[in-house]
Amino acid sequence: MSKGTVVVTGAARGIGFAVTAGLLERGYTVAAFDVHADALESLEPRLLRHIVTVAEGALYVAQVDVSNEASVKAAVAELVEALGGISALVNNAGIANAKHGPVEDLSLEQWNRVIGTNLTGAFLMAKHCIPQLREARGSIINIASTRALQSEPDGEPYAASKGGLLSFTHALAMSLGPEIRVNAISPGWIDVRDLRPEAEASSVEHTDLEKSQHAVGRVGSGDDIAGTVAFLLSQEAGFITGQNIIVDGGMTRKMIYMG
Ligand SMILES: NC(=O)c1ccc[n+]([C@@H]2O[C@H](COP(=O)([O-])OP(=O)(O)OC[C@H]3O[C@@H](n4cnc5c(N)ncnc54)[C@H](O)[C@@H]3O)[C@@H](O)[C@H]2O)c1
Repeated sequence: MSKGTVVVTGAARGIGFAVTAGLLERGYTVAAFDVHADALESLEPRLLRHIVTVAEGALYVAQVDVSNEASVKAAVAELVEALGGISALVNNAGIANAKHGPVEDLSLEQWNRVIGTNLTGAFLMAKHCIPQLREARGSIINIASTRALQSEPDGEPYAASKGGLLSFTHALAMSLGPEIRVNAISPGWIDVRDLRPEAEASSVEHTDLEKSQHAVGRVGSGDDIAGTVAFLLSQEAGFITGQNIIVDGGMTRKMIYMG
């Protein structure tokens, strides 16, 4: 029997793909939402190659643009009609490109595109899933980033979208308790090159320097985030809400002195 239906946005690639695989393996039904039609089409065969047995009816796929309210509203309604309810939402879809050039050259359109997907998309998905989540006494997980807390130059829209997502998380946790828990996960460097459709994929290898700058001695993988999502969804995390769990191999704890 399914442990419940989890909506994962941005499920066709990268971290969302790993989260989808991880939840299917742990007995959840996953509603995989993504804007990219081709990547969605190849999702099930790719999941099967990722050593996941997809139980009959456990994977539901829908093309959705999380930044578009009409698209989100229609997709959530269709999902509820098809599967009868939603027990959790993982807001993972995002424009994952962290650098957008000098802020003085940034167009308002570029800014709005990143905020519209990464932050407004999470708001729209939460807004339309809340009635179902409340009924299920469910959970929301927002995938933020360590770039909500630290920056390199030229990353303003991405950093602002992820900083907003952390504030949205604790605000929502206060509004939706006690029925719904709301948490964020902030990944550090998660290498997702092997979690894409074949045409875009490449193998994952890292230099000693890339590995050793992490306190755990390696770069992150999609499974690191999938495991944290599974923990936050579980009863073991029943006393955790409004929090941001940093999953970065210790990178944000590293003291850096130059020279
Ligand atoms: N990979 C990392 O190192 C890393 C680090 C920190 C945070 N994150 C965050 O994790 C999430 C996933 O990142 P990733 O590296 O797997 O990225 P990715 O680009 O590999 O995958 C993102 C997925 O989201 C989908 N998407 C984009 N816009 C969408 C929209 N409007 N509606 C629906 N789907 C949409 C894409 O089609 C894609 O399948 C993002 O929110 C990203 O900001 C990633």
